[in-house]
Amino acid sequence: MTSPVASGLPSKTDKAFLSILDGQQLKTPPIWLMRQAGRYLPEYRELRATAKNFLDFCYSPALAAEATLQPIRRFGFDAAILFSDILVIPDALGQLVTFEAGEGPRLNPLTSTEDIERLPELSLDRLSAVFETIDRVKPQLPPETAFIGFCGAPWTVASYMIAGRGTPDQAPARLFAYRNPAAFQLLIDKLVDASIAYLSEQIRAGVEAVQIFDSWAGILPPSEFQRWSLAPIARIISGVRASHPAARIIAFPRGATTHLPDFIRQTGAQAIGLDTAVDPNWAVKAIPEQVVVQGHLDPLALLAGGQAQIEAVDALLTAYRGRRHIFNLGHGILPETPIDHVAALVEQVRSFEG
Ligand code: CP3
Repeated sequence: MTSPVASGLPSKTDKAFLSILDGQQLKTPPIWLMRQAGRYLPEYRELRATAKNFLDFCYSPALAAEATLQPIRRFGFDAAILFSDILVIPDALGQLVTFEAGEGPRLNPLTSTEDIERLPELSLDRLSAVFETIDRVKPQLPPETAFIGFCGAPWTVASYMIAGRGTPDQAPARLFAYRNPAAFQLLIDKLVDASIAYLSEQIRAGVEAVQIFDSWAGILPPSEFQRWSLAPIARIISGVRASHPAARIIAFPRGATTHLPDFIRQTGAQAIGLDTAVDPNWAVKAIPEQVVVQGHLDPLALLAGGQAQIEAVDALLTAYRGRRHIFNLGHGILPETPIDHVAALVEQVRSFEG
């Protein structure tokens, strides 16, 4: 059976997260958290310990499905996000990707035009475990819980492929792009094609919305932002909609600040993930009303808890009263976050009736 999204038809749904994306106004915002499946959960740490290598963990449908469901069981979030990582795409393109405990990702860096030219077209077969995870999660989700798929945006994924690791400012990729613009454009083009194929297949497999994470968008000066962040994401969105016209797409160009209105206009995403630094009072004026705002509690306010958390949550709820808002963090949840702070957050958001 094809899902309403896959068939391109508008859906009728009891899922608050999807209703908001489909245009409904709700008094209480739906809530999920970026990186909601992760190390702050004791049950995640236990599950994670059963696999040595992080990518093996991502590619094990039983383990990845369980990690996807853990935060739903504990907190009843309005959406589950597929458990995987943005770096499965470089891996599926044949680049060696490993994760060192406590050190983050390590990739065999791309250093030349030839390295980029050699990258093959994405083989969806290499990612079949991801689609099998989607298959396994679907029947286990509560009827009110939506299911989100994702990919990394080309700029963010490319920045890891060039540097071979996380860096404070993505200088290696920025330098490479200045020095070899044609080769960098080729890499971005390959990632655009791979992302369209990957997201389309996730939707076909059953996710009900997708998010594009451009975690490093904010480090780019304006013309580079347009070229490496905005334009490729716009191409992904129209490419996905070519096969799935009703696809629900959330873009998260972290740090895009003053570029956000242009970004929204030019990409056509129906929802925009905002980061911690955005002033919600600016956002309500600058972001068109038909666009859903997702975000953007400071992950450190959630880690701190107490009065600081209550006030920060209230400020967001109040600012977005009367707007279509999905409550989330401004970036991923930190591993040190106490789980009772998360429970308190969900309770505070659920008791708000704007
Ligand atoms: O949100 C979710 O719960 C779904 C799963 C998810 C993960 N990574 C799991 C993960 C998602 C959506 C991501 C996205 C991701 N991965 C991004 C974009 C969002 C962001 O946080 O900026 C980026 C840049 C990556 C790349 C990546 N993966 C890094 C830099 C790291 C190391 C840093 C860290 O937190 O350890 C990872 C590893 C990773 N991805 C972990 C998890 C739960 C931790 C590894 C572990 O459990 O051993």
